[in-house]
Amino acid sequence: MFWKKSKLLIIYSTVDGHTKNICEYINKKLKNKKIISISSLEDSVKFNLEQFDEIVIGASVRYGYHRKNVYEFIRKNKSILNNKKTVFFSLNLTARKSEKNTADTNPYVYKFLKKINWEPTIKDVFAGRLDYPNLDTLNKLAILFIMVITNGPKDTSKTYELTDWKRVDNLIKKIEKFK
Ligand SMILES: Cc1cc2nc3c(=O)[nH]c(=O)nc-3n(C[C@H](O)[C@H](O)[C@H](O)COP(=O)(O)O)c2cc1C
Repeated sequence: MFWKKSKLLIIYSTVDGHTKNICEYINKKLKNKKIISISSLEDSVKFNLEQFDEIVIGASVRYGYHRKNVYEFIRKNKSILNNKKTVFFSLNLTARKSEKNTADTNPYVYKFLKKINWEPTIKDVFAGRLDYPNLDTLNKLAILFIMVITNGPKDTSKTYELTDWKRVDNLIKKIEKFK
């Protein structure tokens, strides 16, 4: 028996590249099972969303919010997204805390989805990467200050990758089961 492979579009909104890393990992793991296109949010205008069966949107948080164009993209395309299987996942450092690492307990995710009034088929959140050496002085000091008050990693000579890839694998298994 043959069945048609579903068409999946993966879109990432990133500043320092880690959301893109996760999206590329999803692409790598599913590329034999689905017909996949992957794009930054900025370049995604070249795709006709109607042509896809499934759409994954990954976005990171900076200073309390996902970027404005993520809100705009979802608002603009909501009626199309609501006819597809969809995933929204967020990447932020707050998700390193076990009590804030689900879509319902992570404040950025639930506030974001409430604000845009959108319910993706699957919502998820992962802890991100803190790359102190590559931050400029102002951002480094600001993040260090936040890490001091929230008891996070503080050695500014280090890069901390806090993503639990087993949780990413679990999300991939769920996407694989989309029909
Ligand atoms: C300047 C800056 C601001 C950030 N602000 C927040 C924040 O408000 N809350 C949070 O939980 N994480 C915050 N983070 C952590 C990022 O969400 C995390 O580093 C993520 O992995 C970045 O993803 P990206 O590389 O795809 O941009 C911030 C990181 C930086 C560098």
